Amino acid sequence: MEKLENNIFLKNILYCKQIDSTNEWAKRYFHSAKNIIENTVFLADVQTSGKGRLSRTWLCDPKKQINMSILTCPTKIDSTHLQLICLCAALAIYNSIKVLSNLPCEVKWPNDILINKRKVCGILCESIFYSKNNTPSAIIVGIGINVNNNKFDKSIAKKATSIYLESKKIVSKKALIGLILKEFSLYFQKFNMCQFEDIIKEYKSCCATLNRKIEFERTNKIVYATAIDINNLGELIVKTPYGEIFTLNHEEIFYNNIYKNEV
Ligand code: BTN
Repeated sequence: MEKLENNIFLKNILYCKQIDSTNEWAKRYFHSAKNIIENTVFLADVQTSGKGRLSRTWLCDPKKQINMSILTCPTKIDSTHLQLICLCAALAIYNSIKVLSNLPCEVKWPNDILINKRKVCGILCESIFYSKNNTPSAIIVGIGINVNNNKFDKSIAKKATSIYLESKKIVSKKALIGLILKEFSLYFQKFNMCQFEDIIKEYKSCCATLNRKIEFERTNKIVYATAIDINNLGELIVKTPYGEIFTLNHEEIFYNNIYKNEV
């Protein structure tokens, strides 16, 4: 592995055995610390109230998963570009899992990582706004990865997998965390330098959602469409069989019943 000393995300790593949620811990830290250290990483072996996207819970298998939140303060970025930070995290994790395990991963828009159609990682990005000019003061990137889980709760068993279950090899969480933080720091630099097109180009090359038939919900109705593009804000552009175009920002999408039925 390359030397990591210059990685901004290795300067302040906080660890605890058990916490409610590493995202909540990061928020408390931001609000309470006198001298906040930007780019702090929060790690916990166990989360008692792990949070997922769309107000879901994120289940915890003690010690088998990575529960990590990165608190960072991007420079000069307005909230319209926030979605891109999540895409940076997805790219970093996608690259790291591939390098470490050699498994065929794919990114499901916006930021689920799947292996063999099952979810191995989820990302929950939250922002803290202080200023009035629509500029977030801090971003929290919460990352949950199923690393060495050998079984899952019945409620998610059909849609979840772990690196261990797919590769039959125990993976070093420490090595994976190191790799992810290195990769993320590189994408984050690009983000701070507003190299959005580069990020999107790379994201599109590993996003398996593009050109697929998908379904999503709009005003309590299921809409069937094909994913045709991802714009420079990281939004998914979809087209219905009737030629209608929708721009999806955070909605959950399903792959033409496949993923949904397995859930
Ligand atoms: C999702 O796919 O719904 C997102 C799941 C995000 C889970 C991670 S685990 C670390 C961090 N702390 C939380 O409470 N949630 C995120």
